[in-house]
Amino acid sequence: MAETTTGTGLPKGFRSAEQGWPELFRIPHPPHRLPLLGDVLGASRRTPLQDSLRFARELGPIFRRRAFDREFVFVWGSELAADMADEARFAKHVGLGVANLRPVAGDGLFTAYNHEPNWQLAHDVLAPGFSREAMAGYHPMMLAVADRLMDHWDRALTAGRSVDVPGDMTKLTLETIARTGFGHDFGSFERSRPHPFVSAMVGTLSYAQRLNTVPWPFLLRRAARRNDADIAHLNDTVDDLVRARIADGPGEGDLLDRMLGTSHPETGERLSAENVRRQVITFLVAGHETTSGALSFALHYLSRHPDVAARARAEVDRVWGPTATPGYDQVARLRYVRRVLDEALRLWPTAPAFAREAREDTVLGGAHPMRRGAWALVLTAMLHRDPEVWGADAERFDPDRFDPKAVRTRAPHTFKPFGTGARACIGRQFALHEATLVLGLLLRRYEFRSDPAYRLRVTERLTLMPEGLRLNLERRAAVPGPAVPPAAEEDAPSALGCPVRGTAD
Ligand code: HEM
Repeated sequence: MAETTTGTGLPKGFRSAEQGWPELFRIPHPPHRLPLLGDVLGASRRTPLQDSLRFARELGPIFRRRAFDREFVFVWGSELAADMADEARFAKHVGLGVANLRPVAGDGLFTAYNHEPNWQLAHDVLAPGFSREAMAGYHPMMLAVADRLMDHWDRALTAGRSVDVPGDMTKLTLETIARTGFGHDFGSFERSRPHPFVSAMVGTLSYAQRLNTVPWPFLLRRAARRNDADIAHLNDTVDDLVRARIADGPGEGDLLDRMLGTSHPETGERLSAENVRRQVITFLVAGHETTSGALSFALHYLSRHPDVAARARAEVDRVWGPTATPGYDQVARLRYVRRVLDEALRLWPTAPAFAREAREDTVLGGAHPMRRGAWALVLTAMLHRDPEVWGADAERFDPDRFDPKAVRTRAPHTFKPFGTGARACIGRQFALHEATLVLGLLLRRYEFRSDPAYRLRVTERLTLMPEGLRLNLERRAAVPGPAVPPAAEEDAPSALGCPVRGTAD
């Protein structure tokens, strides 16, 4: 832990906003700021993101919050957020929650500082693991894991039980990344309780979030001890997995094979054993936690919007027909299902913010001077609700916002669930393929019935998840007719050039 935190519990190199924003006084903050404590009135340590959404609505496109001795700037207005996407002037900032994860993920891809050489090395070695060809190789394994979910749900249905959506989506996405990336089976669907790896992961994510809002880390002594135990468990799990692979020899060219055996194409360098450990933890965590939330929110909205579900289902029937095993290319043809997913990620981007820092002295949006190294959080969850971009009904769930015509008329950099620039999500295509496939399969098999008394509550642990969401299922009666061949436009290859960044970037 000494590597990355100071005696105050702040990430090493942490800069409070007054050090980086010479005209900070021009940026509004919540009323009733208390001496020493800061903007703590009306704020909960369990819901920092939802509190920030509330403050954003009151304070406008740029605002600041103070917790004890640290002050942060938040940006969500579309023009300012687009300015921060300018890679020539801004880069990823590893701060707060992300920096708090350094004790567990070190210089793994997600938590690496921009200057650390292992970032470029790992990026170049691992990016081909997300190429179209690699993704097509993962597809059969994704189908196999989805079958396990549906067996599990069929059993619940027969027993007349409702299903635990976030719990089961977490099982699904953990098994998917474990199998496709690492040839490992956690046996999640055979367990009645979450896998200990998941409990340890939730523990470290929650602890990293808590560290943001606690003035002195000694207040968290007990939690810190639990966190050490959680990290030890994550390390042990990963070490066992890597040892087994080394003993058994290479798998089928998955991510772990790449990590262990692939040299950099130009420099010939390889990832060190310590770095492999960091990357495996990073991918196991980043590769499932956010996707399970995205699927859970999408299922919530589908259960509350039967008209949307019916339209999505009709598309699945039309595109897939009765085939038991939809092919890789048939997933990208579920255009409307994908819009449902995008709309769920708009309202609840499951990684709800990302931080950007100035590469040199600059002026944000032509109005706010920033010194080199000054940073701000881009509040994606509020950028996605900016009425100037999404209209007065921005809070309403409406997948047609992602109709290609509507997308073309919107300004760039207004939809950023996967972050931006060189440090955007490497697993974006993986997540979109997996989630669209699973939604297609579930829509085809079940009708979803929500509990009318359920009100969406969102749990925060750096990522977002609907809390306590359960659905009742009904098996669909109708057997769809043969699949309809793709129209010329539908069949067009995707414009994806880089395997990591889509055209939106
Ligand atoms: C819906 C699902 C997902 C969402 C919303 C999401 C979101 C994000 C965001 C916002 C970032 C940038 C964070 C920052 O700028 O600090 C990121 C980075 C990253 N994500 Fe994802 N992610 C998802 C799925 C995945 C999957 C499936 C994987 C792996 C298979 C993955 C692996 C990573 C990694 C390794 C990074 C760091 C990339 C780098 O800095 O080079 N993510 N993700």
